[in-house]
Amino acid sequence: MKFFVDSAEAAEIREIAELGLADGVTTNPSLIAKSGRPYFDLLREICTIVDGPVSAEVVATAAPAMLEEGLKLSALHPNIVVKCPMTIEGLKATRALADRGIRVNVTLIFSPLQALAAVKCGASFLSPFVGRLDDIGHDGLLLIDQIVRIMDNYDYPAEVLVASIRSPLHLLHAAEAGAHIATLPPAVIKQILQHPLTDAGLEKFLADWHQTKQKI
Ligand code: E4P
Repeated sequence: MKFFVDSAEAAEIREIAELGLADGVTTNPSLIAKSGRPYFDLLREICTIVDGPVSAEVVATAAPAMLEEGLKLSALHPNIVVKCPMTIEGLKATRALADRGIRVNVTLIFSPLQALAAVKCGASFLSPFVGRLDDIGHDGLLLIDQIVRIMDNYDYPAEVLVASIRSPLHLLHAAEAGAHIATLPPAVIKQILQHPLTDAGLEKFLADWHQTKQKI
């Protein structure tokens, strides 16, 4: 399973990349706004940090303008993947970009049939949002099972990129379901690396070792 970093903060992306845990990056307009950085500069910098797909979202809402923005974004670096929203206009732009050989991540997917439509329109990545479904009392993880099964049934080439992950349990389920990619906030990546029994175990090992008065 690939881990993408769900962030637009260069410093935190670098920290995860240095651990060897960043196979790609996803950004969205909210994360870009939070960073306070000029969009294109930030994307160029992220592409120097991580050698993998970097999703950059369009903000136009009509297909011709989405296509224009997507072409500009994809010209920034070969690793840029254009993110289009799961709307009819977004699917038209997805088809137009895919026909030009540009990879598209269709975002804001909340149902299995939206995912099926997106892959048929040429999406290379499908981004179902788990946390936002849970937020409104739906079962976000069920959506992942359904999409993975549909992609497997027909051997579609798109990768399932689980988004809106809020906890290690979301990641665990996505991995068990066989999703190709999880995009993870840095805080969740740090959570999965820690366990209280690891800390307690190390403390005991070191205390016992110090009693030997030896050095390595
Ligand atoms: C990533 O591609 C998505 O934009 C992101 O995971 C959304 O996460 P959120 O629902 O926590 O904002």
